[in-house]
Amino acid sequence: MPVYSNYIDDESRLSGKCFNSGKEIVIGDLHAEYSLYLKNIPTPSQGDQPVSLIYLPLTVNEKMLGVITVQSFSKNAFSAYHLYMLRTIAVYAAIALENADSFNKLTLTVDSLQQTQKQLIESEKMASLGELTAGIAHEIQNPLNFVNNFSEVNTELIEEMQQEIDKGNFAGAKEISNDIKENEKKINHHGKRAGDIVKGMLQHSRNSSAAAKELTDINKLADEYLRLAYHGLRAKDKSFNATMKTDFDQHIGNINIIPQDIGRVILNLITNAFYVVDEKKKSGIMSYEPTVFVSTKKVNNTIEISVKDNGNGIPQKVMDKIFQPFYTTKPTGKGTGLGLSLSYDIIKAHGGEIKVENKEQEGAAFIIILPV
Ligand SMILES: Nc1ncnc2c1ncn2[C@@H]1O[C@H](COP(=O)(O)OP(=O)(O)OP(=O)(O)O)[C@@H](O)[C@H]1O
Ligand SMILES: [Mg+2]
Repeated sequence: MPVYSNYIDDESRLSGKCFNSGKEIVIGDLHAEYSLYLKNIPTPSQGDQPVSLIYLPLTVNEKMLGVITVQSFSKNAFSAYHLYMLRTIAVYAAIALENADSFNKLTLTVDSLQQTQKQLIESEKMASLGELTAGIAHEIQNPLNFVNNFSEVNTELIEEMQQEIDKGNFAGAKEISNDIKENEKKINHHGKRAGDIVKGMLQHSRNSSAAAKELTDINKLADEYLRLAYHGLRAKDKSFNATMKTDFDQHIGNINIIPQDIGRVILNLITNAFYVVDEKKKSGIMSYEPTVFVSTKKVNNTIEISVKDNGNGIPQKVMDKIFQPFYTTKPTGKGTGLGLSLSYDIIKAHGGEIKVENKEQEGAAFIIILPV
């Protein structure tokens, strides 16, 4: 017989009667006994009319889980022994169902616990500046090592150069001086890098509450920082170019924020976006048009500021770490990895959040959500 179903609480059926009352129904001759339970004789959903029927409630701790039934086309088909057997089966079936249900609930609880734990770890990572100390020491140690090593090498080279000069070998001395010059550049590069890290750190630990919130035209702010980011990058690299698209919701009005802080967040996001589209362009994909899209939108009691790019998106293993301080996939000297962690702190201080929408190979969107 094919599978069929009825509503468990359908009062016009014996199964529904049994479920709703929680009482056993045992019938040896349907035609003679149906009226004890129902007004009309029930029509079978599938197949012929059974004559003998047993319905037993499936209960655990007075909770109704369902009904178990056995039916036959013969009159008085079931003995007391059959009924006894079926009752035993019903008890075990009910316990098994209850266990399955508990297991499901347990799995859900474990899932939600894991989720909560993940969030806790995240907020712990973001919130405590103290934890940064080890990271800073490590980060600054690295460029400092370079600076120390290269300057030691240069001291030796200068000695050698002086010896060459004493010998009158000016060509050799000049050659050595070129090496010294190269090393000097490296020292400068790594020194700058250490400087950048310290600068980023100062921004991180700076007490934002000192700066006041003010009513700000968020569209104007976003537009200003978009231009700032674009021209900043163009100044460093003449070959840099990207299409900028904007879509500003004109109904937002002024919102209460610390403009320089939110501006810095927007700048970070836009700089990241420009960087990835530029990298993608440099990788030589045909007919690729690097594009960064900045938009604002009022949604109920929040303002959304979105910075979207058509780069390559963020690989999952990178995604888990992007908000961690000092996490960067950029080559040495190109990024400190503080942009997003700083942005996260600022947005959190504003009572908002940053969402990431990501499609690998197609780009990423960072959405700042601020309460108004
Ligand atoms: N739009 C984006 N598309 C793809 N990856 C991104 C994007 N934005 C950020 N990332 C990834 O997140 C990492 C961390 O970003 P974050 O802004 O914190 O640091 P950074 O840009 O590397 O350095 P900094 O901002 O300090 O110059 C980046 O190195 C990059 O791997
Ligand atoms: Mg950045």
